[in-house]
Amino acid sequence: MAVRIGIIGAGNIGSVHASQFSQLRDACEITAITDLYVPLAEQRAAEFGIPGVPESPEALIQSPNVDAVIIGVPNQYHAELAVRAIEAGKHVLLEKPMGINAAAAKQILKASQASDKVVMIGHQMRWESVPMQIKEQIDRGELGRIYTAKTGWFRRKGIPGWGTWFTRMDQSGGGPLIDIGVHMLDLALYLMGNPKPVSVFGSTYAEFGPKRKGIGTWGKPNWSGVYDVEDLATAMIKMEDGSTLTLEVSWAVHMDTDNTPFVHLMGTEGGASYRGATGKLLTEKFDKPLETPLSRPENDESERLRLSRHFIDCILTGKRPITSALTGYTNNLVLDAIYESSRTGHEVKLDWNL
Ligand SMILES: NC(=O)c1ccc[n+]([C@@H]2O[C@H](COP(=O)([O-])OP(=O)(O)OC[C@H]3O[C@@H](n4cnc5c(N)ncnc54)[C@H](O)[C@@H]3O)[C@@H](O)[C@H]2O)c1
Repeated sequence: MAVRIGIIGAGNIGSVHASQFSQLRDACEITAITDLYVPLAEQRAAEFGIPGVPESPEALIQSPNVDAVIIGVPNQYHAELAVRAIEAGKHVLLEKPMGINAAAAKQILKASQASDKVVMIGHQMRWESVPMQIKEQIDRGELGRIYTAKTGWFRRKGIPGWGTWFTRMDQSGGGPLIDIGVHMLDLALYLMGNPKPVSVFGSTYAEFGPKRKGIGTWGKPNWSGVYDVEDLATAMIKMEDGSTLTLEVSWAVHMDTDNTPFVHLMGTEGGASYRGATGKLLTEKFDKPLETPLSRPENDESERLRLSRHFIDCILTGKRPITSALTGYTNNLVLDAIYESSRTGHEVKLDWNL
C-alpha cells in the first residue's frame, strides 16, 4: 500500500518536499498539507494536486489518512510538532536542525526511542553524489583511520530573510551555525564514521547582520524585524577516539570564498575532499602524491529525491534511517556547546546524559 503523507509547513521547504514526494507516486501519495497561513497551504494543494487541507497541524497529525508527517516549519516548532506526530503513531521526516536546541532535540529523541516508527532528519547532503562516492571509498578502507577533518561553508553575502524568523534567536536558535553549519557538521561526522564528540571550543561573531549588511537573495527581508543571531561561527570539536573536526561557517564575511560547502577528510592511508559538485581522493603511491578527481555524473537525480526515497524505503522495510534521531541529537549537542563556548570563552564538555 502507498504511504500516505501529510506535510506541515507550506513555505520554501514544504514546497520542495511536495515536489520530490510527488515524483514517487508508486510508493507514496501526499494526502494533506497545512500551514499556519492556510491560503498558502491551499495554494500548494492546488499546485501539487493534494486533496486535503486540514485546518491545523493537530488535525493533520490526527488524520486517519496520514501515515507519515513531514515537518518544514521554523525551528522553534520542531520539537512540539515532531513529538505530537510520533506520539500519534506517525512516521516523521523532520527538517534540520532537529531541535532549536539540544533540550528540544532530546524530547524528540526520547519520543522516537519509545516508538517503532521511522524518525528521520532532513540532511540531503548525505545523498549528494560526491559525498556518496567518498563514503564508498571510506567503507572500503581506502582512507584508513580518519584522524582529522575540516568542514565549512563560507557565504560571502548570504544573510537569508533579514528580520524574519531566520534571524531571530527565539525562533531559529541561531544564525549560519544552526542553519548551514548543521548540514556540514552532520555530513562530516557521518563521513568520519560517527565518532562521539566529547568537547568543543568555539566562537561566534555578528559583524554584518546588526549593521544590515551581508544581505543575500534567499527570503524577503523584513526591516521592522529583529536580527540577534551570529553571522559567522568557528569551532574545534574533539571526539572520544582522539580525532578532531574544525567547523567554520558564515552567512557573510569579507573573505575570498567560492560560497561552496566543503569537507576535507584526512586519513592514515588517504584523504578525500568534497567541494559542492566536485571532489578528490588523495593518497601517496610510489613516493608520489596521487589525486583522483570526483564529480557529479551528468543527469544525476537530485539528492533530495534520494532522501525522499530513503524515507519511504525505511517505512516500508523497517530499515533505520541514516539520519536518525540520535544523529540529529548529536548535532544539536555540538551546536549548543559551540554557542556556550563562545559565551563563556571556555572549552565545553558535552553532556551525554539523557
Ligand atoms: N534541508 C534544507 O536544506 C533546508 C532548506 C530550507 C529550509 N530548511 C528548514 O525547513 C524549515 C522551514 O524553513 P523554510 O525555508 O521552509 O521557511 P519558510 O518561512 O519559507 O516556511 C515556513 C512555513 O511554516 C509556516 N509555519 C510557521 N509556524 C507554523 C506552525 N506552528 N504550524 C504550521 N505552519 C507553520 C509558515 O507560515 C511558513 O509558511 C526550517 O527548519 C529550515 O531550517 C531546510
